[in-house]
This record gives sequence, C-alpha cells and structure tokens, in this order.
Amino acid sequence: MDSGTIRDRFLAFFGERAHERVPSSSLIPNDPTLLLTNAGMNQFKPYFLGEQQPPFARAMSVQKCFRATDIEEVGNTARHLTFFEMLGNFSFGDYYKQDACPWAWDLVTDGWGFDPSLLWVTVFETDDEAFDIWADGVGVKPDRIIRLGAKTNFWSMGVAGPCGPCSEIFVDLGDAYGDASDLGPGGNEDRYLEIWNLVFMQNDCNAAIQPIAELPKKNIDTGAGVERLAMVLQNVPSIYETDTLGSMIERAGALTKSNYGKDPRIDKGLRILADHGRSMTFLIADGVLPSNEARGYVLRRVMRRAVREARLLGTEQPVLATLAQGTIDLMGGFYPEIAERSEFILEVVAREEEHFSAALRGGLAVLEGEMTKARNEGRGIPGDVAFLLHDTYGFPIDLTTDIAGEEELDVDTAAFEELMLAQRERARAARKASAPAAPAEAAARLIEQHGTTEFVGYEHLSRTASIVGIADSDGAGLIVAEEGAEVDIILDTTPFYAEGGGQVGDTGSIMGSSGRGRVITTRRLAPGLTGHRLTVTAGALAVGDEVAAEVDAVHRVASERAHTATHILHWILRDRLGDHARQAGSLVEPGRLRFDFNHFDALGTQGVKDISDELQGRVLQDDGVRAYETSYDFARSIGAMAIFGEKYGDFVRVVEVGEYSKELCGGTHVPHTSQIGAVIVTSEGSVGSNLRRVEALVGAEGLAWLKARSAMLEETAVLLKASPDEVAQKVERLLVAQKEMERQLEAGRRDATRAAADDLVSGAERIGAARLVSARMDVSVDDLRSLAQTLKGQIGSGAIVLGASGEGRGNLVGAVTKDLVEAGVSARDILAPGAKVLGGGGGGKPDLAVSGGSAADKVDDAIEAAVFAARNALESVATS
Ligand code: SER
Repeated sequence: MDSGTIRDRFLAFFGERAHERVPSSSLIPNDPTLLLTNAGMNQFKPYFLGEQQPPFARAMSVQKCFRATDIEEVGNTARHLTFFEMLGNFSFGDYYKQDACPWAWDLVTDGWGFDPSLLWVTVFETDDEAFDIWADGVGVKPDRIIRLGAKTNFWSMGVAGPCGPCSEIFVDLGDAYGDASDLGPGGNEDRYLEIWNLVFMQNDCNAAIQPIAELPKKNIDTGAGVERLAMVLQNVPSIYETDTLGSMIERAGALTKSNYGKDPRIDKGLRILADHGRSMTFLIADGVLPSNEARGYVLRRVMRRAVREARLLGTEQPVLATLAQGTIDLMGGFYPEIAERSEFILEVVAREEEHFSAALRGGLAVLEGEMTKARNEGRGIPGDVAFLLHDTYGFPIDLTTDIAGEEELDVDTAAFEELMLAQRERARAARKASAPAAPAEAAARLIEQHGTTEFVGYEHLSRTASIVGIADSDGAGLIVAEEGAEVDIILDTTPFYAEGGGQVGDTGSIMGSSGRGRVITTRRLAPGLTGHRLTVTAGALAVGDEVAAEVDAVHRVASERAHTATHILHWILRDRLGDHARQAGSLVEPGRLRFDFNHFDALGTQGVKDISDELQGRVLQDDGVRAYETSYDFARSIGAMAIFGEKYGDFVRVVEVGEYSKELCGGTHVPHTSQIGAVIVTSEGSVGSNLRRVEALVGAEGLAWLKARSAMLEETAVLLKASPDEVAQKVERLLVAQKEMERQLEAGRRDATRAAADDLVSGAERIGAARLVSARMDVSVDDLRSLAQTLKGQIGSGAIVLGASGEGRGNLVGAVTKDLVEAGVSARDILAPGAKVLGGGGGGKPDLAVSGGSAADKVDDAIEAAVFAARNALESVATS
C-alpha cells in the first residue's frame, strides 16, 4: 500500500464521519512560542484553549511536521526522521474517547488491513475509562492493554498550551526486532512500533508542562505518522525502505555511488541524505532560509550535515539540489507548494552548499588535527576549538560533536556554550552602550508611586501632565533640573512616542510655569516607564510641576510616513518574493526608512524599480490605515504578521493598511496612505547571510532627493548647452564622437609610425647584407616597442636601436631579426652599454629588449653606445 493510498483511506474514513478537511499549515507556526510546527494540532491550539470559536466541530489533516529534537538520532535508527507527515483527526468539544478509540481501531484493521493479533494499546496509568473502552467497547484482549506513566502517555506540545493523557496503538514487528515482552511496548521499544497516538486533550499546562487547569471542553487530537504506517504496510524493515523515503535513498545512493544495506556507516549517510533532503525542501518552501538564528539555523544544520555526509560517502559533487529535486518529484503532487517553488528551493540549496563546501574542507582539517592531538593526550575536544569551527568555518555544533563522536571523543559543549554566550553578551553590550537605562529599583519605585506612564500619543500630540520623576544621565534621581541640564523627565501621562518597533522616539517640548525644555528623544527607561530626554532651555523643571507636553508634529508625521511606508514595503516584498521575505530589522526615522529582510538574492535593478513603482502606486491609492487592539489569537486568526522573537501579550495592536497589510505593531501611522507623499527607494544590498536591506526616503525627504537629482540634471544640461530632455541624447552623441576621435587619433598615430618607419628604413646604415636602423623618438615605451617590431618586419635582416626620453626616464628598445639572432646577435647585449649610460638595467629577449634608467638627458649618448655595439655585432657577422 503506497503512501498515497494510506493518506486517501484516512481522509475517506474520517470524511465519511463528517470531518472537515483542513490543509496542512505551514512549517512556520503562527505561534511565537513554537519554533517549527511539530504536530497536526498546532494550528488548532486556540480552539482547544477556548480562545477562538472553531468554524467546525471536527477536522482532519495531513500535516507537515518537523522535530528538531531527533536530529542527532537520524541515520542511526530505522525510524527517526526530522520531517514527517502526520495524519490526524480532531474533535473540538464534540466527540471524545468513546468514538475516537473504536474509529482508530476500525481504520487500522479494516481500512489499512493491519492484523489485529499483532496490535497492542497503551493507556495513561489512571485512565480506567480508556482501558474499558478498548477492552469492552473495541474488544481488545486486556493483556494487550498496557498502563504507562506520564513520560509516554501524557502528551503536550513541549511548550505551554493544551495537553492531556493519551493512548497509543502499537504493532508487534516480530522476533527480528528483539524479544517479545509481556509488557509489549512497555517492555521493548524496538519490537513494538507506535503507529497512532490518541490524545484526550483536556488540560492546559504551563511552560514547565505542569497541568494547571482543565480546558473548557474535552477534545480529541490524534496523530499517526505516514512513514511508520507505510513501513509496516509495505512490509519493509525500516521507514527508509518505504516508497517515499526508499526513493530518496535510491537517489542518494546514485548521487554518491554507494549501495544501501551493505555497510552500517554507508546506510547512516544515505539515511541522513534522504531525510535531510526532504526536510530542507519543505522548510525552504515554507519560507525558512538558512541563517545563524532560530529556524534558519535548524535549516542550516540539516543542510550542512547532509553536505558533510555526502563528502564522507566520497562525493565532492554538489548533492543538495538533486536531493531537493528528488523530494519535489516524489511529493510535489500532494504538496504543490514545493513544486511551485522548486526553482527558488534549488537555488537556495545550491548556494548554501557552495558556501559551505569550501569552509568544510578547511574546518575538517582543523578538527582532524585537534582530534589527533586529543587522542594522543587522552582528552576531548576543547570548547574553544568547537567555537572556532562554528565562528570561522560555519560548523553547527552538532556537526562537530557528530564527527568527534565517531572517534569517541567528547566535545566540551559547556565551554562552547559559554563562549557563544560571551559573544552574544559582547554584541548586546555594544548595542546597549549608547543608552544607559534608569536603575531598575528607581524605576520600580516610580511605578509603585505613580503607576506606569500612560501613553495618549495615538490620538493626541499635546497633553497637560505632571512631572513624576527626573533622572540625570547616569540614571540618578533629581528633584529639580536647572537651565542647561540634560535629563530624563518622567511624566504621569504623555503624548510622546517612546522609541520602539523600529520607530524613533518623538521630539518636542515640555513647558512649565517656571521653566521649559527641548525634548531630544523619547525612549523606554524600563517596562512601562517613558523617559523624555530633554535639555532645560530656560528656568528650571521640578518634580511635581504641571507641564504642557507638546510633540513636534513635523518630526512625528515624518516618522509616521516612513512607518506606514515600511508596512507597505514589507507586504510587497513578501507578496513578490515569497513568505520567507520576512522583516529581520527595521529603522523608521523622519523621512527615512531602512528595512532588513530575509532573502537570498539581490533584487536587481528591474526588481528594485518594480518594487518602487508598486510602493508609490499603493501610496497614491490612498487606502485607509486602521489600528485597533484585539486579542493575540484573533490577530493571529486573521493572519496578522507577527515578528518572530518579539514577545506579545494577550492584547495586541493590529495595524491594517487597505485590505492587504496586517501587522502587529505598536507604532504610529498616517491615517491615509496618500499622506506618505513620495517614497523613493535609494538602495538595495546585502547586509549578511541571506539578509538584504532596502533604504528609502519618504515624504519631504524623498521629494528633496528628487529635487537634488533634478538640479544636477539642470547643471549638466547647462554644461552641455542642451535642455534637460536632451541630456541623455547629447551625452550619447558626445560619447560616439569621442570614440570616433579616439579611433582617428589612433589611426593617425599608426600612419605616422608607418611613415616614420619607412623613412628610417630607407635611411638605414648598411652593414654587409644587414641594415642598422637607429633613431630617437620621444614616445612611450609601448609605442617604441611596437615601432621596433614594425621595423624588424621591414628591414629583412638587421638590428634596430630606438631611444626616447620622457617622464624623467630614458628608454631604449632594441630589436634583432631572426636570422641574426640565430647567428648569435642579441638585442639585450646591444642595449647593455646604452643601459649603463642611462644608469639603469634592462630585460627582454635576444630578438626584442627594453632597457631604461633615470638619466633621461643622456638618451642620445645611450643610443650612440647601443648603435656602436650593434654595428660591431653586425660587422662581426658580416665578416665571419
Ligand atoms: N499531538 C499528538 C502527537 O503529536 C497527537 O496528534 O503525537
């Protein structure tokens, strides 16, 4: 039974039982607590938690899953994978155990045809209800029902969220897989293979995976791995011999010219290529790009591990693109996203392999040297070596531990982690150095007394407020700030936006009855506490003063233009390049934006132009910009973009532009896109591995830039005595004319040389059958040399001595025809006395030599000396 049939029967079975078919969600979960999608239930988490009303009570899916926890096991065993397909049926407060268990049994036995006598089930140790359903309702023999503890029979996502006791179905693979046990799967994990997990979702757990509450309803979440079902149904000894993975193994074997099933080390390599080849393909299709952070690093690990295995198997040729193509051929029918994005996927993997291949050789040499030392000294691999390999050669740590592990050498991963931590600390410290924060206790005390700073700046640009605190530049508390002082003012309420989400803080003024100050910037001093960094410009400001806080509206609106433009740009990039083109960093300033995003390639001149055009077009479309607060889950359900790694509370602010862009964002925006005015993309370039940066000028700054360009054009036009419209044409004409002039000049020079050559030949001195040509011509050495060549061709038999002075040097070129070279005359020897006169040396061959020296004024003497030598040489040939 092929994998397609296994999926089809599952979908037909639950389809008949009124389950809504839901497509697999992306491997990038819409859930910031989770790195990668690891189960079919991930996308339904808000339904289980009761945060959202499900649109249907029953669902079924074939879900793409990735489990990074098993990465090191892949290859070593018959059943571990990073990427796999999970079949699942779900009930959201609808049916429960009483239906889920018999349905699973029916599908396993009747639908897929498993032999019931080989099946075992497990239940959570205290779940009598499940035990009875299997025994009485389904008719499983009680000795085939095993009670097990929380380690195996209480399921959670591994992060806070819904969880519950579970019950699993196992199949006995037989004696070839080890001894039978009365405890079945409780006694021998290898012989009894889990094929289906039924989770009775009824609890909510915290981050420590401790159940803390009952869920509002009782739910069902099941998961069955397609690859494991296929292994049994196709009667093969491991998942790597099933239809999909088996074909991948075959491709990997062909690529590396190795055979599966003969040597365990080779088998391990082929399994890694097969599994990692699939997982990288699916990860990239869903928008992950290789990088050094988070998901990108997981992807990088699988790709680099695969490359290293291929090299171990003896192939130096690229392999990743072929593995990706294999996955696309095999699975693109059921998962069209990988076929649709095939070109993109192949390009990403090829680049990564190219980058890593060179580093791999260097890194392996280092590691091998270290391993030899370690073995000789009876120790492991030190952390600093692992760090060097990571930092300089791009070795993921598990690659280093893998390689060392094969030689039974330990790696000091604790020391490695420390070095990594120190590196991160250094980077953080460097970032922080510019903004000292108020001491935490002072901030806490202020919040205790006056509450957090109330922000009213979404609606208001001015506000009457009270000064609740003043801090000097070291964060120490002050009661009063005198004229000239630079301090942080803390107000009870403020219209000033504090720097955040890429948008710079507001500027403006704070005015009291006894003094005033200019706000240079606004930033968060501590969570909930806004600091207005200000210079007291007149009088004094004191704690307790009532003040008027006024935001500089020009500065603020200029930032808002850039911020809204950033959202539109982000949307366009994702729309055009794919979901992987996510925001990786942004800076929003008055009139200027800088946006970093994940992408592997330059956008190109045309690409940048198209993006610019669409950006400006969307600005002029004058869509409304709407911001509202809502629950995190609602925001997620409407597809609002969250920035990975940002922490969001239960309530979030969503900013929508028109009907297209939706982002979680706390920043401020223009109400209508046309208020952005102009957006001019001024640059696009790379700022790191698979990281690109777009910079643009917005609003007045954009227009100023255009004006400056236009002025440059006007100036150029004046210089060219043309109108601006004619500039391009005129420059083109000038370039053509210049080329023509150069051509003519060159032709003139050639003619002149030819004429000079003719004169020289006719005036040559005859020595026997040979001719001796000599002349001074103050041209460049190159011209001298080519003239000598020409003359050599014209005189039949003889020697040439030419001299020139220029740029403070005297130069000589000598040439001798072939017949005379054969008779022993050498241009080098002829020039030697001349070179001495010039105070220099020379080089070249017997038929053509060049020499020169600094005595530029002695060129005539030098020529004479060389001619004398030439004459002697020719005479001695003539008389011999
Ligand atoms: N969520 C459970 C699992 O992943 C059942 O689908 O095993």
